[in-house]
This record gives sequence, C-alpha cells and structure tokens, in this order.
Amino acid sequence: MFPARVRNLHRLLQFRHTRWCSASCGKASSSSRLVLGIETSCDDTGAAVLDETGAILGESLHCQTLVHLRTGGIIPMVAQQLHREHIERVVQEALDRSGVLPSQLSAVATTVKPGLGLSLGIGLEFSQKFVRTHNKPFIPIHHMEAHALTVRMLQPVAFPFLVLLISGGHSLLAVARGVDDFLLLGHSLDEAPGDSLDKVARRLSLVKHPLCSTLSGGRAIELLAKDGDRARFPFRTPMGQMYDCCFSFAGLRNNITMTIKKQEAEEGIEQGTLLSCVNDIAAATQHSVAAHLAKRTHRAILFCKENGLLPSHSPTLVLSGGVASNQYIRKAISIITETTGLQLLCPPAKFCTDNGVMIAWNGVERLREGKGILPPDVDVSYEPKAPLGVNMMEEVKAAAIRLPSIRMKIPN
Ligand code: KG4
Ligand code: ZN
Repeated sequence: MFPARVRNLHRLLQFRHTRWCSASCGKASSSSRLVLGIETSCDDTGAAVLDETGAILGESLHCQTLVHLRTGGIIPMVAQQLHREHIERVVQEALDRSGVLPSQLSAVATTVKPGLGLSLGIGLEFSQKFVRTHNKPFIPIHHMEAHALTVRMLQPVAFPFLVLLISGGHSLLAVARGVDDFLLLGHSLDEAPGDSLDKVARRLSLVKHPLCSTLSGGRAIELLAKDGDRARFPFRTPMGQMYDCCFSFAGLRNNITMTIKKQEAEEGIEQGTLLSCVNDIAAATQHSVAAHLAKRTHRAILFCKENGLLPSHSPTLVLSGGVASNQYIRKAISIITETTGLQLLCPPAKFCTDNGVMIAWNGVERLREGKGILPPDVDVSYEPKAPLGVNMMEEVKAAAIRLPSIRMKIPN
C-alpha cells in the first residue's frame, strides 16, 4: 500500500506547473540576474558566473586528479590544501572571464553538502567572507541536487523526471519533482560506482599504463575496456535477490580484486605490475557496473509507472554525475529507456563531472523560485553527509518489483 503522504504528494503533483527558462549562450541581458557558483565538495575547485537564462559568462576549474593519481587516492588533507591554494584564483578567473564585478552579482551559490568535510569547508569559508565583503545573498547548494538539475540549463526538461546520479561519492535514483523536491527511490548501501572504478583502476596500477597515466580511474577503465573481452571474467551482477532500487558495489569490487590476484599468480607477477589481461578485466568490470545500474534503474522506472510518478507524455530519465560520462554505461541505460518508453537525457561529459557551472545553475534555479536564499550574515555549516529528498526506499522495497529479462547486448 502506498502511504498517505505519498498519495497527497501525488495530488500536489497534478497541480504543479513548471516554468521553463531556456538556456542560451552569449552576453547577459542587462535585466538578467547574475549568480556566482562555487564548488569544492571533493577534488575539483570550480567557479562560474551565469545569468538567469543559463548563459555561462565565465568559468574556471582546477582539477586535482593528477595529484590524487600520484598519491594513490584522495587524501582529504591534500585535497583541502589544494582547494585552499586555488580557490581565490579560480573565483577571480571566473569573474574576470565574465567581465562581471562582484557588485553586479545577485547572489553567490556554494556547495555545502554532501562531500569531504575538509574540502567543503574551504569553499564555504571563502564564500561567506565573499558575500559579507560584497553584501550579497548566499545560496547553500546540495551537490546532488545540482547534478540533477544541470540538464535543465541545457535543454527544456519539465518536472517531474527520474534521475540516476552516479559519481565518485554517490549513486542514487530519485524522482525530481521540483528544484528542492525529490523522492529518493534508492542509493548505494556501500561505496559509489566511481569510487569502485577508481579503486579497481588503482589495484590494476593503470596509472602505469601508457594510455592511462593522466586519466581518472573511471576514464581509464572505459578506455581499456574498448579493446577487452568482457565475457572472459563473468562477474555476477550485485543484489540479484534484492527487489529494490538500492545499489552495492563493494562485493563486486571484492570479486574483481580476487580475480586480479588469481591472474597475478597465474602470470607470476607482483601487485603493481600491469597484467596482460588488463583490458579484459576492465571490460568485465565496466559491464558489471553498467548491468547493475541498468537493472536498478529498470525497477525504478517500473515503480514510477506503477505509481504514476512520471508524466504519461514523454517521461524522462536524466543520467548525470561523473560516471555518467561513460559511453558504455550510457548505452546500457539507453537499452532500458528504449524498452520502457522513456526519453534519456545526459548532459555532455564536461557537465557530468564536477564544475562550478552546475552550482551556479542550481543557484539560478533557486533564485528564480526564491528558495533557500540567505542574507550574507547568516552562519551556515557544511554537512559531509546529506540525504536527498523524501525517503521512499521502504515503499520501493515493499513493491518488490520483478524485472522482465532484457538482453544487455551493448556494442563496445
Ligand atoms: O561527479 P564527479 O566529478 O565527482 C564526484 O562528485 O564524485 O565524479 C567523479 C568520478 C570519479 O570516480 C571518476 O573515476 C568517474 O567519476 N568518472 C568516470 C568517467 N569519467 C569520470 N567513470 C567512468 N567512466 C568515465 N568516463
Ligand atoms: Zn559530483
């Protein structure tokens, strides 16, 4: 049975009207309000200035990937120090490129949750000083809300729509019903898919591979998988007996690590040396992650259909977050959306990975609706953990939807 609160939400949904504000490029019109967005939730220092139509007037991004590849993963204090060293320059660059003065801004939007506490703290401290100095409103941003809404900067997408957000820190399925109105259908019970891909890449020492030395783990696996045989190591898709929309990647990663150890023993090589079957392991890893994401998404779509959570005309799935830049995963998800009659929308890769633009856009959306805009002197705390939306996971679990089988024949 569906709980009363959700039935009430349904009723509300029928009366919701969504204004669409189209994205355009070029200069801000003189009447358009301007928002500076600042992102430091993980390992990217980003800033951007947008006008109300979604035109990007100036942006700057400093990625820490290379440093973290050398240190074997993100060390929070290293990430913090790099944010500290770069934030002022990155924000100034975004402002200079936009030709906008701080006095011309209508608000500053900054990621304050969820993420690495030490990283979030740098962006928040900088932003609070900035808004106080220039006497500007402050808009605290939820990083996953920003990933979910980015697509609306690029094309007209009306609420409600389903989102699958997959990144280095998170994976979640939610119905986006408004700028600050989400129904959470499922999330990861252990680690995020990007984290798993990064760890597998590290265990395979892909940083020593001539083609991968500068690539994030996820990108390295995607590249090597193109020339791999995914059928050589058939890893079991996680959570086959759990009929909900949650994810789990830790067990899969453990199986992959065991396979890597076995192959190292067979080839007589030590950990830290590249295996000859590295492409096949990459392909099998990528396929298992894609199949798991696709199955949970399939169930989420069926749940939404059963409960009328998406419009009957042109229901949409939005796929975003760093891992969504993976073309193989996009194809896997597109098989599900084609089968179920949804349109699939993915922002281009540069807007899937973390950046200041998506935070500024979230600020624009909130400014337009007058939601969550604070005066400059209000003290705001960062929150390393912060769920997104109303938790519907029990209802999804209770529905226990069985999936029809679908052949995941994904071309490389
Ligand atoms: O969204 P994002 O930039 O940062 C977080 O919010 O976590 O996502 C970063 C993650 C990393 O784990 C990275 O390995 C993964 O996205 N990633 C990819 C690809 N590009 C980045 N994973 C798979 N395939 C890719 N092409
Ligand atoms: Zn992210």
